[in-house]
Amino acid sequence: MNLPIERALTRDEQETIAAEGIDNWNTYLRRFPKAKDRDRDRALVEWSGEGSVIRNIYGEEYIDCLGGYGIFSLGHRHPEVVRAVKDQLDRMPLHSQYLVNPITAEAGRRLAEVAPGRLRRTFFCNSGTEAVEGALKLARLHTKKRGFISTENSFHGKSMGSLSVTGRPVFREPFQPLLQDVTFVPYGDAAAIGKAMRKDTAAVVLEPVQGEGGVIVPPDDYWPRVREICSKNDVLLIADEVQTGLGRTGALFGVNHWNVVPDIMCLAKALSGGVIPCGSFTTTDEIYASFHANPMWHSSTFGNNPLAATAAMKAIEITVRDRLSERAARLGVSLLERLRSLQREHPRAIDEVRGKGLLIGIEMRDEALGATLTEKLYERRVLVAYALNRPRVIRIEPPLNIPEHLLDRLVEALDESLPELRL
Ligand SMILES: Cc1ncc(COP(=O)(O)O)c(C=O)c1O
Repeated sequence: MNLPIERALTRDEQETIAAEGIDNWNTYLRRFPKAKDRDRDRALVEWSGEGSVIRNIYGEEYIDCLGGYGIFSLGHRHPEVVRAVKDQLDRMPLHSQYLVNPITAEAGRRLAEVAPGRLRRTFFCNSGTEAVEGALKLARLHTKKRGFISTENSFHGKSMGSLSVTGRPVFREPFQPLLQDVTFVPYGDAAAIGKAMRKDTAAVVLEPVQGEGGVIVPPDDYWPRVREICSKNDVLLIADEVQTGLGRTGALFGVNHWNVVPDIMCLAKALSGGVIPCGSFTTTDEIYASFHANPMWHSSTFGNNPLAATAAMKAIEITVRDRLSERAARLGVSLLERLRSLQREHPRAIDEVRGKGLLIGIEMRDEALGATLTEKLYERRVLVAYALNRPRVIRIEPPLNIPEHLLDRLVEALDESLPELRL
């Protein structure tokens, strides 16, 4: 049936859309052990979102503690982002690609104002993988070298270049040969990066905290030491802040925790304001100048579009103005404490709780327990998910402006669900 999106749905329409939605998207359901329960599965079809809450097709509410894997730092449909995007939609959603668009320039200016060090030139694109892809190309162009060092269990995206530096063989192998000049070293081990340096190394690419790798927080001296090693070897340092950027870990950028300035910084996810996809990589004047010889060496039709730039501009403004990084830091400390107390009560189910700000991982004893706990939380109307590269880690990544009583509800739902696990 055609989706009537302009008005409320009748009960019959809800049923039909739910059934069709399930039939059309049953790959998702494989995550759920009891995916054959069709009546229950129908409730999985989403319809609207507001703040930290998602409603399904029947109007039932779920607390979004997954936050679209980091998209919804401002929650769903933040009113100021929506208003600004609607205004831009009425004025000029996409750009001529001939004249200069002031909205994109303004988004770049705001990013330069808050970015670490002298990072001030931004290329806007549409996703995280494109941001990393562009950073890799720029690193080769600027250094005239070819090699990259990345880390085991990292996640940098799934287009060919980003996939080449993604440290999970299961994602890479079906698509070989990828870039040949990539060395993977254990995450958190700066000496291993030093040892992996070659004459031909162009850049080291790292996440401030490994997200998909299972929320791995590195030792405090890791980033400063890697910075030093890169500078000494004339190798660029690329910070992949796609998941950690814009307040998620309790600082505006993950690298700020260690006062490190990378050479190139990639963003996406939260840069969208939760409204229009947007990615970016930002660098210094000097490094960006390598593109000047031929500005067409790297371009994107939809990158730089004013609709996404409006969302990015508002996302930066609101995150800074509302001190959402500080809020994430404060809420993260208290949430970690409460989750660790649950871990002490259920040591046979939970191996470890860790995180920074509102990027938190609960490492279950095994993958099956993680899947069951995720499902039990879903039954209690709380959404969480596992980490892509380490499925026994349940990741908690709610909006940074989530009302505290909804986080209380998450802890309660965990408290109710954990005793139900069969160990
Ligand atoms: C650190 C990091 N880099 C890159 C990506 C890829 O982003 P996208 O899915 O927008 O291509 C992700 C996605 O999860 C990520 O977490």
